[in-house]
Amino acid sequence: MAMDKELLLDKARAAKKKAYSPYSKFNVGAAIQTLDGKVFTGCNVENSSYGLTVCAERIALFKAVSEGHTSFNALAISASENPAFPCGACRQVLSEFGKDMTIYLDGAKQSFKLSDLIPHAFSVEQMNDGAKI
Ligand code: THU
Repeated sequence: MAMDKELLLDKARAAKKKAYSPYSKFNVGAAIQTLDGKVFTGCNVENSSYGLTVCAERIALFKAVSEGHTSFNALAISASENPAFPCGACRQVLSEFGKDMTIYLDGAKQSFKLSDLIPHAFSVEQMNDGAKI
């Protein structure tokens, strides 16, 4: 499992090199592993209209989903300054596809479950039946 972690982090580090971040100059790479062991990577892609920037994590996730993968094991994140947590928007988007996924942050010994990072994510259950609190 430790091997899995390092391999996935290596792919996130490689993806970080592709970051398109001329405005912030903050580079992020992400690698998401599907339950059947495939890996999809992403980098942040900025835009001159700043708000249209897309984070590395969502790009990796959307690449996977658009190729037919919707179940995930783990996500690794590497940034210019490590460790860096995924932003709140990415946590919510990731939670759509299961809260069990493990999050590895470059430069951090500790790993996290997505459910630890977003304990009260909005979900479709709430549209049907309200939150269970
Ligand atoms: N960024 C990510 O790619 N992922 C995150 O979770 C946080 C922020 C990017 C967006 C922007 O290009 C740069 O980092 C600075 O915010």
